[in-house]
Amino acid sequence: MSTILKIQDLKKSFIVGGGNEYRVLKGIDLEMREGEFFALMGPSGSGKSTLLNIVGALIDATSGHVMVDSKDLTTLNDNDLTDIRRHSIAWIFQDFSLIPNLSALENVIIPMNLAGEIGPDVEERAIKLLARVGLEERMNHLPDGMSGGQQQRVAIARALANRPKLLLADEPTGNLDTQTGHEIIELFKELAADGTTILMVSHDVALAHSAQKVFILQDGIVEEEIQDLNGGKNNVN
Ligand SMILES: Nc1ncnc2c1ncn2[C@@H]1O[C@H](COP(=O)(O)OP(=O)(O)O)[C@@H](O)[C@H]1O
Ligand SMILES: [Mg+2]
Repeated sequence: MSTILKIQDLKKSFIVGGGNEYRVLKGIDLEMREGEFFALMGPSGSGKSTLLNIVGALIDATSGHVMVDSKDLTTLNDNDLTDIRRHSIAWIFQDFSLIPNLSALENVIIPMNLAGEIGPDVEERAIKLLARVGLEERMNHLPDGMSGGQQQRVAIARALANRPKLLLADEPTGNLDTQTGHEIIELFKELAADGTTILMVSHDVALAHSAQKVFILQDGIVEEEIQDLNGGKNNVN
């Protein structure tokens, strides 16, 4: 299986009040292969969203390397970064981030149009994606008329619109009840089995442990959590 994400010695600092340097990420290494589904946990403010935002090419690293689908984000120009954002990476957010005055179907079509795809095939594929997440019947509904779980499914269909290599999910179940959260995670597992690579931030311990591996971000570094045979948990490198 090919490597989809490779993070090497990634560091990120913010300049805060008084010109002080605040080191959030102090040297992160992480590698994901095609079809892997990993969870990232860690205390609030530990830098989980910062890490995802760098991987998603939304903010720059201070140093280190981030390769997405064999392209090093730290060396790409703006056009190439836009291309990666549109074609290789997709996002799922806690608040669903759907466009409120567009139907489910239109929400799924938008990223296809932005990527330059137009015509009847586009609508057909969007309908298939909504069917994939169990929402074909609701495709003409506005987000407001849907439950949180249904809205997140629309967001997942939208995320799949451009056949992303890497799906980044930042607290995707944070606004959902436990049962609905589990359903969303089941869907992620199916997508991963179909070859999508998924990195999910979650602070729900049970849901995070549905992923193949769990990583903990703490004090600026990431360590894999290994469950030992006695049922305890150890963080190892
Ligand atoms: N643009 C920024 N400027 C300064 N500090 C920031 C910025 N973005 C995030 N931070 C700080 O970096 C730390 C990590 O934030 P974040 O990645 O959002 O954490 P998490 O998602 O784990 O809760 C926090 O202390 C936050 O205040
Ligand atoms: Mg966050």
